[in-house]
Amino acid sequence: MARRPRVVGTVKALRRALAQYRAAGERIGLVPTMGALHAGHLALVRLSRRRADRVVVSIFVNPAQFAPHEDFSTYPRTFETDLAALGKESTDLVWAPSVEEMYPAGFATRIAPEGPALAGLEDAFRPHFFGGVATVVAKLLAQVLPDIAVFGEKDYQQLKVIARMARDLDLPTTIIGAATVREKDGLALSSRNAYLNAAERALAPTLHRVLTDCAGKIAGGNAIKAVTAAGRSEIERAGFAVDYLEARHADTLAPIASLKDGPVRLLVAAKIGKTRLIDNVGLCPPN
Ligand code: PAJ
Repeated sequence: MARRPRVVGTVKALRRALAQYRAAGERIGLVPTMGALHAGHLALVRLSRRRADRVVVSIFVNPAQFAPHEDFSTYPRTFETDLAALGKESTDLVWAPSVEEMYPAGFATRIAPEGPALAGLEDAFRPHFFGGVATVVAKLLAQVLPDIAVFGEKDYQQLKVIARMARDLDLPTTIIGAATVREKDGLALSSRNAYLNAAERALAPTLHRVLTDCAGKIAGGNAIKAVTAAGRSEIERAGFAVDYLEARHADTLAPIASLKDGPVRLLVAAKIGKTRLIDNVGLCPPN
């Protein structure tokens, strides 16, 4: 039977709950989220469950990673449904602080990630974003001090920024990446898919189809630049406004001109109507 997970809303209550796990010698896994949970998030919870004795899921819509014109106030908030879904995945603890608990009056520190955070992908279109993500994730990792923390490859640049930050700051947590969960037609699950109307939803799988197609062509020896340019045009013809479609080094996110330069990751961001979607794929077989 699904059990409603225990919810804590203050750092003090969180630390008390975690101390009990640690006293029992249990390994702690953390899955940071902004709620509006879907099967992609729940796959992260299951992976964490396999790698740790206790699973903590944080639900916090982080104002620091939204620009003033972005969707912070309208971002979907479905707390009770999220708790029910987490109960079915045997989540031990939900860490759901208020904005005031996370950022008390006088809060004055911000992490400024470099390296993969300045790769010229998401950062070129959302300059405030990775500073906000890194700051809140650094806080979440400091609050929970988990043995592992799981992040989705869906947000590939984010995963690389966080892994780099954890190494650079000597944080004692192993950062684990989890494969992207998709709809049957290939569309990556995202809380923002809820914004798509029927016509946009029908076009949305174009992103994954074109990326997969490009990956096959590059793996088959076609020139990266020509393949990505053609892929970009195809997505535009389908009705998207493309922010980028790029081949990058899968670890450093540096631009890559040839398969010889290292493992390749293809990343795309594009707007359909008012909704901005991102996706990425690796090359198969990995080069
Ligand atoms: P959110 O968008 O809620 O995503 C939480 C985690 O779920 C992230 O690690 C994300 O990559 C992962 N995820 C989302 N869709 C996925 C999918 N289709 N398959 C697999 N994993 C998926 O990303 C954030 O929140 C925030 O930036 C956060 C890291 C919590 C910091 O505020």
